[in-house]
Amino acid sequence: MVKKGEVILAPMASYTHSAFRRLCRALGADRTYTELISAVGILRNGIPQKLSYFTDEERPIHYQLFGSNPEEIAKAAVIVAENLRPDFIDINFGCSVPKVLRTKAAGYMLQCPPMMGEVVRETVEALRPYGIPVSAKIRLGFEEDRAEEIVEELQKAGVSVIAVHARTAKQGFSGQANWKRIKDIKKIASVPVIGSGDVKTWRDIERMFEETECDGVMVGRAALSNPWIFQEYKEKRDIKKGISERMDFILRELELMWEFMSREKACAEIKSQIVQILKGVPGAKELKTYIVRAKNCEELIKRVEEAKERELLYT
Ligand SMILES: Cc1cc2nc3c(=O)[nH]c(=O)nc-3n(C[C@H](O)[C@H](O)[C@H](O)COP(=O)(O)O)c2cc1C
Repeated sequence: MVKKGEVILAPMASYTHSAFRRLCRALGADRTYTELISAVGILRNGIPQKLSYFTDEERPIHYQLFGSNPEEIAKAAVIVAENLRPDFIDINFGCSVPKVLRTKAAGYMLQCPPMMGEVVRETVEALRPYGIPVSAKIRLGFEEDRAEEIVEELQKAGVSVIAVHARTAKQGFSGQANWKRIKDIKKIASVPVIGSGDVKTWRDIERMFEETECDGVMVGRAALSNPWIFQEYKEKRDIKKGISERMDFILRELELMWEFMSREKACAEIKSQIVQILKGVPGAKELKTYIVRAKNCEELIKRVEEAKERELLYT
């Protein structure tokens, strides 16, 4: 179960795969989530290997499913439980990208709290023989903030942990996450509450704990450009990393990615992480463009190695 004071790597589609999760766990993240994985996809085509790959080093790990139908989600959860034995099955009730909303899945369900309860109830029932609990990741509502009603339905249905990105689906990533509402949810919840939204520095982690009294704090986008944020929080100090150390992180991540995807695919996918990790680093703008224009794996690695030689300190 989530312990008071945990700092958690947020799920982020196409970034937080097994390699990135392992590196963040090693830097001090207490818990990880897979990115959202389609329940219907699992029922039709089986478990997607690349998205589902994880190692014991990433535990406790929540395997996140999304769908539009309680029965399908529960059935997919059983397949995952039997084959992968994650620590939790998580249900995504927050994704608000148009492609997903069109299928009436994920964030769409925020419009109907009783349906969210139904998804959790069926999944909890189906997973009982496996002893795997169900967590949920929500937003405050779809257009209207209905957080209390949502939390009540999920709890009645047997949810074990609730993570809340403190915005509505309609807001997307605009405006400011409303931490006050995390505090309100914590007050009425009988299960651990994880807060998410706009944690930018290790001091924000402290501040979210203080201001909301939540049990866990999730770090999303900030961890992409600064995976050392977990260590910073544990050690209560700023850690400055130069281009060279950032490129070492990328090379380690690449090596870990090769365990579960081809060399070329990993080299193509890591480019977005390179952009993130060099964000705001003085002198790195042109370097970033130079590296991501590499045409193949060999060229990419050569350019990352070249970048390592530039010893500019991030201040
Ligand atoms: C690129 C990206 C991908 C995301 N993918 C997921 C996802 O697969 N599942 C999920 O529950 N949330 C997803 N989120 C939401 C984050 O988990 C988090 O709740 C949100 O980014 C707010 O936290 P932050 O301000 O710390 O980034 C994603 C966010 C981003 C930026």
